[in-house]
Amino acid sequence: MKVTVVGAGAVGASCAEYIAIKDFASEVVIVDIKENYAEGKAMDLMQTASLNNFDTKITGSTNDYTKTAGSDVAVITSGIPRKPGMTREELIGINAGIVKSVATSILEHSPEAIIIVVSNPMDTMTYLVKTQLNIPKHRIIGMGGALDSGRFKYRLAEALNAPLSDVDGMVIGGHSDTGMLPLTRLATRNSMRVSRFLSDEKLNEIAEATKVGGATLTKMLGTSAWYAPGAAVSAMVQAIATDSKKLFPCSVYLEGEYGQEGLCIGVPCILGKNGLEEIVEIELNEEEKAKFASSADAVKKTNSLLEV
Ligand code: LAC
Repeated sequence: MKVTVVGAGAVGASCAEYIAIKDFASEVVIVDIKENYAEGKAMDLMQTASLNNFDTKITGSTNDYTKTAGSDVAVITSGIPRKPGMTREELIGINAGIVKSVATSILEHSPEAIIIVVSNPMDTMTYLVKTQLNIPKHRIIGMGGALDSGRFKYRLAEALNAPLSDVDGMVIGGHSDTGMLPLTRLATRNSMRVSRFLSDEKLNEIAEATKVGGATLTKMLGTSAWYAPGAAVSAMVQAIATDSKKLFPCSVYLEGEYGQEGLCIGVPCILGKNGLEEIVEIELNEEEKAKFASSADAVKKTNSLLEV
């Protein structure tokens, strides 16, 4: 299993680090445009191998995609992250060109690679790669829901005063401050609905805190977060590499599922060796359906900016 991670910034480096620590890939190639930067990150990470007990070989490359040839999975984290006060959507102008050129270079050397997009606005960047580079639906997946669900479970566990491993929950919809749909109705504490323990008001508070989870951290850190994004994308890569059929909400191209078509947005997906193996349709209630539809409208509106 060879994995390429494009972008040696905080998210890309954190993703490469988690992949290495979990030791399931034979090789990780980090690519960056900044001279020697990816090589430096790779060398620094390799010097942790004997301490963290992994055999994954990490190398770096300054924009030389020949080094990425034959990758099974490629992660795109390139582009600029948001600054405090910015929305993810505001990054579209700069990131669209970067993401398209990175995806083109990846496919030139690894035509069969499964591509995972992290760059923001993520749902639109995933759609861009899917539609403009004409990749089959199972090979183009956006990372958002796995991260947002991690943030949701963190908030739930905190409110329940329960260990995180007892808590389960999922966030679907667009990866944006207003588009996320944390499924509070279906969240559980060790198989019991969380509404057994938390009031509607508290659940609403948790949902709102989840939706602005990225913005909250951006304000605290001065730039976009990286540990949880890196962990989320590495978990998705692992599910593909090990063919585990693990289920994550991911941004994938819809053709009628959830009543939507012609966009990429977060829905429950089973990941395995083929990338997206199956979209799982869950029964949403009327309120959730309406929220999902309005989230899809917002994503489509952002997608339409690609044409200007
Ligand atoms: C975040 C970025 C990765 O939510 O979108 O932190």
